[in-house]
Amino acid sequence: MEKIIVKGVNQLRGEVNISSAKNSILPIIAATILCPERVVINNAPMLEDVEVICKLLNELNCDVNISSINNKLTIDTKNITSMDPDAQLIRKMRASFLIMGPMISRFGYCKLSLPGGCNIGSRPIDLHLKGFKLLGADIMIGHGFVEVKAKKLIGNTIYLDFPSVGATENIIMASVLAEGTTIIENAAEEPEIWDLAQFLNKMGADIEGAGLGKITIHGVKSLKGISYTPIYDRIEAGTFMIGAAITNGKIKINGVNEEHLRPVIEKLKECGVVFSDYKNNSIIVDGTGEKKPVDIKTLPYPGFPTDMQAQMMSLLSIVDGVSVITETVFENRFMHVAELQRMGANIKIDGRTAIIEGVPKLTGCQVKATDLRAGAAMILSGLIAEGQTEIGDIYHIDRGYVQIEKKFRNLGADIYRIDS
Ligand code: EPZ
Repeated sequence: MEKIIVKGVNQLRGEVNISSAKNSILPIIAATILCPERVVINNAPMLEDVEVICKLLNELNCDVNISSINNKLTIDTKNITSMDPDAQLIRKMRASFLIMGPMISRFGYCKLSLPGGCNIGSRPIDLHLKGFKLLGADIMIGHGFVEVKAKKLIGNTIYLDFPSVGATENIIMASVLAEGTTIIENAAEEPEIWDLAQFLNKMGADIEGAGLGKITIHGVKSLKGISYTPIYDRIEAGTFMIGAAITNGKIKINGVNEEHLRPVIEKLKECGVVFSDYKNNSIIVDGTGEKKPVDIKTLPYPGFPTDMQAQMMSLLSIVDGVSVITETVFENRFMHVAELQRMGANIKIDGRTAIIEGVPKLTGCQVKATDLRAGAAMILSGLIAEGQTEIGDIYHIDRGYVQIEKKFRNLGADIYRIDS
């Protein structure tokens, strides 16, 4: 079982290059099902989750080639079959459910295992299914599977009770080849939605308003194969920004879209971090100054991202004063609190709110990654904890970060991976 070992105390210095966005490339890979021509995705991050969805396409008789030399992903779904994909693969990664929209668009049929819940919440799919139904699909649920049939998908207006990222993406993909026009109201506005729409429009789709709360999709007859480079991973970049802040370091981050990180940058500025020299997608992050406690409420984009909540909690756990974090997106995303408490953090949970009283220092010990972003938070705390921190269950971390310990080591951290 692999573990990550971090020895405190570090101060990060130097430069780090950010990879392409995990939460862009997963729907983009699913969207290749819509087009029976070769698609090339450049700068693809070699992540566990990317391998899982590529394995899924392989299972469906697609031709998938991952070149780790230049991180180029070549996908050809010409010979895809509509057989039922392996349930274990679907359950392994929730994002696999994103093939549902493209599959019913391509074949008029798809049967998938219901995606299980995970550590951070029940993760329902009711909004995905509401969209498919309004587009004319029939839905059957039973024995742990959902089966969707649609002789023809016809455009409609779909209001999302919650601006779900996955539901917005699945409905967009089900609509691009449908007859007529689809309008998604109260749609998710995350940059990854905009990126998916950019990818689809380059293939010949006709999507307006992606990245805003109302998206209009005019159905087209077919799409063509293209080459595409996804946006940078704003959550990885935000994680390294907090790395500079928590270690009183100063780093240059290459691969940042300041607009996509506005809520994180503004909150870190409030906390005392200084940003400068934003040009050519690079930015200098100066975390050497005094930090102040801040209050955070996670919200759908453009609010503060839930995927940055655990990392911020690591930082605030050693900032003198009282900070309050409210998690409004997922119902159970405080699993990392117990791990931080083991390191000496003073945090109290009251429902969806965590009250953090900063302590002078954390001490290293054995902890575990309870989800992808909580694992990154454990590394951040280990950077400044006294002594050694040993992080288990790091498979969570590898799902969303490319060679995270190498990137931190290149910034001066004393961090390495062991196979215990
Ligand atoms: C995406 O998950 C991201 N994953 C998550 O990132 C991210 O935390 C989340 O969006 C929110 O930003 C990918 O893009 C692969 P949602 P998704 O549907 O699509 C409720 C990471 O760390 N909901 O926006 O599953 C749901 O219960 C991961 O990279 C319904 O009620 O998120 C949750 O409370 C973690 N019904 C809220 O919406 C539905 O049909 C947000 O879920 C769907 C969702």
